[in-house]
Amino acid sequence: MRTKIVAGNWKMHKTLPETITLINELKSIIKTDNKVEVIIAPSFVNLSKAVLLLHDFPISVAAQNMHFADYGAYTGEVSADMLNTIGVNTVILGHSERRAYFNETDDILQQKAEKAYEKGMLNIFCVGEKLEDRTAGKHFEIVKNQLKNALFNLPKQAYKKIVIAYEPVWAIGTGQTATPEQAQEMHKFIRETMAKKYGYDLADSVRILYGGSVKPTNAKEIFSKPDVDGGLIGGASLKAKDFNAIIEAAKS
Ligand code: PGA
Repeated sequence: MRTKIVAGNWKMHKTLPETITLINELKSIIKTDNKVEVIIAPSFVNLSKAVLLLHDFPISVAAQNMHFADYGAYTGEVSADMLNTIGVNTVILGHSERRAYFNETDDILQQKAEKAYEKGMLNIFCVGEKLEDRTAGKHFEIVKNQLKNALFNLPKQAYKKIVIAYEPVWAIGTGQTATPEQAQEMHKFIRETMAKKYGYDLADSVRILYGGSVKPTNAKEIFSKPDVDGGLIGGASLKAKDFNAIIEAAKS
């Protein structure tokens, strides 16, 4: 039995005052239970405050990225230790916006995934094809290679702390979501790919989230698919009411 996860990726949204307001709203309406784990990923500068505000509430705080080095001359970057020591033990890696706008390659992501494992962080690892890949019928191959190149060097035990997020690039922020069938088809493929590499027990235990224009209106149907274990939510995670409705959809 895989516990569902609903994670909110706030991207470059919300100033400090806005972060405080949204977290307080979330605390007042979200009813957490053991059916769903809730995570939010505010901007780096607001992570400490988010951790403080949530010390008495079961929402975990994640970073949207981190560097693979322990420390050093990497202007503008943030290390795993910096995150861990402020109480942030979860990181989103390989988001398509990082891949597209900040040139994050599979090679870089492999190093980041290794660092997350070494430092005991929960790694929400994003994969997903572009529209042209899907049109060309290459979506399975692309996703398989993203997994293989960045994660398949890791030992089995690393997967206790890995969650995969399937986010078709054409569905992110576009309002065009994958159909529940398209999501299920890819999630099943991801699980089979994991099974071939690591065995069925491991593949069966790994949670696979769907991301890309998840909204209160479509969440329930997407989450009802057998291989969909929750969602990585962008735009709709910025409104407490919508995010809460998506969390509720994951419970049913
Ligand atoms: P979206 O973003 O929900 O706004 O499409 C999802 C994501 O990028 O994680």
